[in-house]
Amino acid sequence: MIVRGALRVPGDKSISHRSLIFSALAEGESRITGILQSADVHSTAGVLRALGVSVPALSEDFDVRGRGRVLSQPTVDLDCGNSGTTTRLMAGVIAALPVTATFIGDASLSRRPMRRVARPLEAMGATVDLPPHGGLPMRIRGGALHELEWASEVASAQIKSAILFAALVSGVRAWVTEPSRSRDHTERMLQARGASITVSGTSVTLDAGSPLAPLDVNVPGDPSSASFFAGLAALAQGGDLRLEHVCVNETRTGFFAVLGQMGAQVTESNRRIEGGEWVADIDVAPGELRAVTVSEEQIPAMIDELPLLACLASRAAGTTVITGAGELRVKESDRIAAVVSNLRAIGVHAEELPDGMRIEGADAPLRGRVVTHGDHRLAMAFGVLGATDNAEIEVDDRDCVGVSYPGFWTDLDAVVAG
Ligand code: S3P
Repeated sequence: MIVRGALRVPGDKSISHRSLIFSALAEGESRITGILQSADVHSTAGVLRALGVSVPALSEDFDVRGRGRVLSQPTVDLDCGNSGTTTRLMAGVIAALPVTATFIGDASLSRRPMRRVARPLEAMGATVDLPPHGGLPMRIRGGALHELEWASEVASAQIKSAILFAALVSGVRAWVTEPSRSRDHTERMLQARGASITVSGTSVTLDAGSPLAPLDVNVPGDPSSASFFAGLAALAQGGDLRLEHVCVNETRTGFFAVLGQMGAQVTESNRRIEGGEWVADIDVAPGELRAVTVSEEQIPAMIDELPLLACLASRAAGTTVITGAGELRVKESDRIAAVVSNLRAIGVHAEELPDGMRIEGADAPLRGRVVTHGDHRLAMAFGVLGATDNAEIEVDDRDCVGVSYPGFWTDLDAVVAG
């Protein structure tokens, strides 16, 4: 397999969700360019519409007229589909409004832990009802909140952002600290809109009464989507792939650093700041891949790329060990169990660890059927492996990539030259 050419992956999912929510809450009109048009982002748009915001059909370029933190009582349940980010970020918004709303979602989302976001919102004064298993449906009765100081047990941008949105909408102060730094797009977007926010190490403070100005957003390419193609180019027999206009915020680029450590040629160029985020072009060419050890402090910056890393590890010389990644068990699927059982199903020696996995690299043929459990990142990670020489891998549900990257299979075909 030769991988060559240039690719501009779709807009970043985290920034896309936040651009819609911030635009809806601002006082005035914001233009959004390059938003990710995927199922998860449609979920956020749908939830905002249910709250009375007129969000147009998602397109390359559109305006949102903000309602200045005055959203309406919904008359339907808030359907978040497969999207944890929609649920948790909007939970923060709802908690601060004089409304009652019920969040629902698909079977995968309904199983995911919501207590982690319910607890701080209750501590601020909202009422949150959860089913005994702690997932969805989640009913929130919001209202005026009080300030909060919260030490989160897990590094999670979703928890941190829920608290920041709740404080922003209520006009109160919030201080959040986490064990290590999760992605910081919410903080950057708050700052760009004139809010008074201070970041110190792994803690963030939002001052009371922060204003929220409208702001145009140009969404950069999603580094998590770009990673699949970086991995593909690294596994190729030859070629060079340029990934253009990728968000290279350092809270997101852990995978690219590890890919370089494994022996692939990864070069960044044209680094610039656009709309408060670092953006660059990334060139990737193959190399002799070696195993790596990835531990807890490296995890947040590559959390969504770990299924892909595990797939690459199956082709790298030596044994790769990933630890400190217990959060993988509560993503769109249990990504530790699912990745390991699928690697085994195609002939790789792999084992589960309580908070990670161990994978032995080899070059034997890979053959078999992968069960995605509807998890988009599993479909794409094994899709990359399946495109390599000496592999015949059937992915049971190719369409689930629509959650974050509807054009994934087309783009894959376009860069594989033979
Ligand atoms: C996201 C944060 C991460 C990530 C998810 C998107 C976000 O989740 O896995 O895909 O946009 O804030 P956690 O914050 O729960 O780790």
